Amino acid sequence: MQQSDLLDKVVSLCKRRGFIFPGSEIYGGLRGTWDYGPLGSELKFNLKQAWWQEMVRNQENVVGIQAAIMMNSRVWEASGHTESFTDPLVECKICHSRIRADQEEEIKTHEGTHKEQKTEWTEPKKFNLLVEAKLGVVEGEKSTVYLRGEITQGVHVNFKNVLDSIRVKIPFGIAQIGKAFRNEITPGNFTYRSREFEQMELQWYIKSDRKEAEKWFEYFKEKRMNWYLSLGMDKNKLRFRQHESDEKAHYARDAWDIEYQTPFGWKECEGIHDRGDWDLSRHAKFSGQDMSYLDPETNEKYMPHIIETSGGVDRALLFFLLDAYSEELMTNDQRQTTRVVLKLHPKLASYKAAVFPLLANKPQLVEKAREIFKNLKTTGLNVAWDDRGNIGKRYYSQDEIGTPACITIDYQTLEDGTVTIRDRDTTEQKRVDEKEIAPTLNTSYLD
Ligand code: GAP
Repeated sequence: MQQSDLLDKVVSLCKRRGFIFPGSEIYGGLRGTWDYGPLGSELKFNLKQAWWQEMVRNQENVVGIQAAIMMNSRVWEASGHTESFTDPLVECKICHSRIRADQEEEIKTHEGTHKEQKTEWTEPKKFNLLVEAKLGVVEGEKSTVYLRGEITQGVHVNFKNVLDSIRVKIPFGIAQIGKAFRNEITPGNFTYRSREFEQMELQWYIKSDRKEAEKWFEYFKEKRMNWYLSLGMDKNKLRFRQHESDEKAHYARDAWDIEYQTPFGWKECEGIHDRGDWDLSRHAKFSGQDMSYLDPETNEKYMPHIIETSGGVDRALLFFLLDAYSEELMTNDQRQTTRVVLKLHPKLASYKAAVFPLLANKPQLVEKAREIFKNLKTTGLNVAWDDRGNIGKRYYSQDEIGTPACITIDYQTLEDGTVTIRDRDTTEQKRVDEKEIAPTLNTSYLD
């Protein structure tokens, strides 16, 4: 398979099998928005759950919050987003399209669309990325609010609330997963750059000390890289890249990206940022509230510094899909067919297993298969039922959506209570007792 075809194949699979649809499609769409279908919602849920488990529940001193998407506009003045959250854009003097000045490939592609004329560009100009909304019911009295451009500020404005309500001591972290919105000028590459997307972030509060900052920065770089690896992402397609000084966001003292090698180049998946005391100092100044921390042991009062890990849920999901997509040539009855397999980590896979009666027109097999299916559902595993077509087609269909195991109920099941479990990646089958199905799935795939 050509790498250049990979993105198209994943986009097509996502539509065909119900992972991701273009937003508002029946009305011609809305650029930069995407809807997650039945399988995509499950996959996204599993991805967020894996993040939350690792970054919050497995930690001693991390708590989670869910802040509102709409916040007082002063928040964005304080955070610097109304002033500095900008992308430099160049404008095509022929058709007035605007493109990010750093997107050389897009600029070249655009120049190709004006074949006969020589494209000229304006000097780069800055455009703010915050999305505005109007709040209020009376026309003329509506106030402008911004849909959050990063989920981060909802955490920092609650720093004191968290400190006062739950026993945490520095160093500690506040985690959040949620939607963010950006007026991206050139959304594209499927969900890679969207206007509405989800972020998963940890804000880690530390002492105002350079050595502490360096220590925790390295710690979280490694931790976050390991998370992608632990969920099966190809090591050779992951790397770190440090931001150049002119590329860093206004709040960042140091910034490193975890990048993934996509068919459209090495692209940012997650950023690890040293935000210094930017956020809390600015909120203290703009709100007039004391945002400092009083160390209960030393009685020292200081403005905490922050190390942030900020990942995109949609980007990670896209990269996991690109990484998992594979095609294998198979010979069946002397005919060559292509088996499409999504080799997703079982923890991410939308369904953990699919249950089939060997023959859909044999009531005894269907009844037994239904019983096993229902029992499996009560274990909390998300399992699918499939009785369409022949067994081979069902295997292929489940492989294509990444279901790690297929359980078939056949005549032997009726005799001795054993079923076959077929493994997605090896296609090997083994027989296990029906009581062993859930433990086998849990130990073979989910531990
Ligand atoms: N709080 C820091 C922050 O927002 P960022 O590098 O601007 O940092 C963090 O964004 C992550 O959010 C990125 O690494 C990316 O995964 C995701 N992200 C940013 N813009 C995005 C967009 N337009 N579409 C999809 N994901 C995006």
